[in-house]
Amino acid sequence: MAEYHVYQPAAGHGLAHDPLNSIVAPRPIGWISTRGADGVANLAPYSFFNLFNYDPPILGFASSGWKDSVRNIAATGEFAWNLVTRPLAEAMNATSAAAPPEVDEFALAGLAAEPCLRIGAPRVAESPVCFECRLSQLIRLKGADGKEIDSWLVLGEAVTVRIDTRLIVEGAYVTTAAQPILRGGGAADYFSIGEEQLFRMRRPG
Ligand SMILES: Cc1cc2nc3c(=O)[nH]c(=O)nc-3n(C[C@H](O)[C@H](O)[C@H](O)COP(=O)(O)O)c2cc1C
Repeated sequence: MAEYHVYQPAAGHGLAHDPLNSIVAPRPIGWISTRGADGVANLAPYSFFNLFNYDPPILGFASSGWKDSVRNIAATGEFAWNLVTRPLAEAMNATSAAAPPEVDEFALAGLAAEPCLRIGAPRVAESPVCFECRLSQLIRLKGADGKEIDSWLVLGEAVTVRIDTRLIVEGAYVTTAAQPILRGGGAADYFSIGEEQLFRMRRPG
């Protein structure tokens, strides 16, 4: 018989480490580039991130607190998502430093900022995939009691998608070819994926 550790989060998890991040893992990383109203470029990773709709493509991330990325998106209505790959992992990590707004994290991490096609935010030149997004909704999160919390969900429509053609084989995007990395639960934990992890299962007809 299984025994369970059961807890109400509001009363604490009762463990040495909060298990939430390790349970909902690994998570894709939203590497979000923006430009401030003052023109300064900004780049930061967010693992509360996902794709929420196909048509139009809508993706989103959540910020715990009103961080520079959210402030810039609220001001300009634009952001770009850049794929984090294994070769870019350390640079991505460097862009998570708590830098003041006037600091350009592209320069901080030694990355090149390239102009996007349809939005004013820059993209990470070294990243093989970029979605250029226009803000569709900026939502302040609430608890079940209706009280607003200091977390912000940013949703944006991808108006341009850019893919390095080396990742496309016979018309299909090959997920593992880019060596994407995913966020694990521990403070320093990440996962990479390869073809060994792939298995196939069709949906019931
Ligand atoms: C892999 C990774 C994932 C992260 N995910 C989040 C997240 O989902 N939400 C959040 O608020 N901060 C997250 N952070 C921390 C932010 O990147 C960090 O606070 C950063 O300084 C925010 O930058 P900004 O103020 O320029 O937007 C993450 C950091 C790392 C390294």
